[in-house]
Amino acid sequence: PKVIYKDTHGGEYEVDVPVGENLMQAAVDNMIDGILGECGGVMSCATCHCYVDPAWVDKLPAAAEFEEDMLDMAIDPQENSRLSCQIEMTEALDGIVIHLPARQF
Ligand code: FES
Repeated sequence: PKVIYKDTHGGEYEVDVPVGENLMQAAVDNMIDGILGECGGVMSCATCHCYVDPAWVDKLPAAAEFEEDMLDMAIDPQENSRLSCQIEMTEALDGIVIHLPARQF
C-alpha cells in the first residue's frame, strides 16, 4: 500500500509502505523531510507529528490517551494531528494522504 506525504511547499512524495510498518519509520526510511521520529517510535518525542488528511481521519483507529497527551507537545496541533509512529500501515489505508507540518520544533 502507498502513502502520499505532502509538504507545506507543495511537494508530494508517494511511498510504498509494507503492511505493519508505521508511517514515521516509512518517512524516515525514505528520507521524507518533515518527520523526525527522534525517539524511534516509543511516543516520547512528538517529532513525528503529522496531519492526517481529513478524508482519512475516520479510517484510523482513534488516538490513545497517551498519544493525545504527546500531541499537546507538538508544534501547532490540530484536530487531525497524529503521531505518525502510531499509524500502522494496513491495506485499507492504501492511498492515505499525510500532511507534513511546517516544522517539528
Ligand atoms: Fe517519537 Fe513518534 S517517533 S513520538
